[in-house]
Amino acid sequence: MADNETRSVFIVGLRNAHAMENQALSIMKPQLSRIENYPEVAEKLDQHITETQGQIRRIEEILTGLDEDHSTLKDVALSVTGTMAALGHTVAGDEILKNSFANFAFENFEIAAYKSLLTVAESGGFMAAVSGLKANLAEEEAMAGWLDGHVTMLTKKFLSLRMSGKTAKV
Ligand SMILES: [Fe+2]
Repeated sequence: MADNETRSVFIVGLRNAHAMENQALSIMKPQLSRIENYPEVAEKLDQHITETQGQIRRIEEILTGLDEDHSTLKDVALSVTGTMAALGHTVAGDEILKNSFANFAFENFEIAAYKSLLTVAESGGFMAAVSGLKANLAEEEAMAGWLDGHVTMLTKKFLSLRMSGKTAKV
């Protein structure tokens, strides 16, 4: 029953992606609430939080389309993401940098997850799911690209703020 196996792998992968996106929200929201000196990061996080909420809705629509109820989904946090989330609670002055590294890692985790899900969808003929998964993937790639492109600027700004005495500010 290869088809059932593929479907089962797909459903589990979608549920994991649902948990992953909720974890993403729980990582980004506390960061956003603490940022004071980096409005450009705050703006981008705010935008990606909105995108992530849309991604969760897309995953739920795909699950509904497969006759899978998503209302009882119990999202179990992955250990890797739990570790990253803990970085957000550091009291060191370089929280903005560590969060930026963790966000970059998380976005790349998400990119891999959606590439894998797209492969399963195409292998199993779940073509109705492809456009939603591609939309999620594109948003993760854009966010990862933004983070990648801002590491240098962020670090220079961090150094500049530190020299002006604002060491403890995020
Ligand atoms: Fe993301």
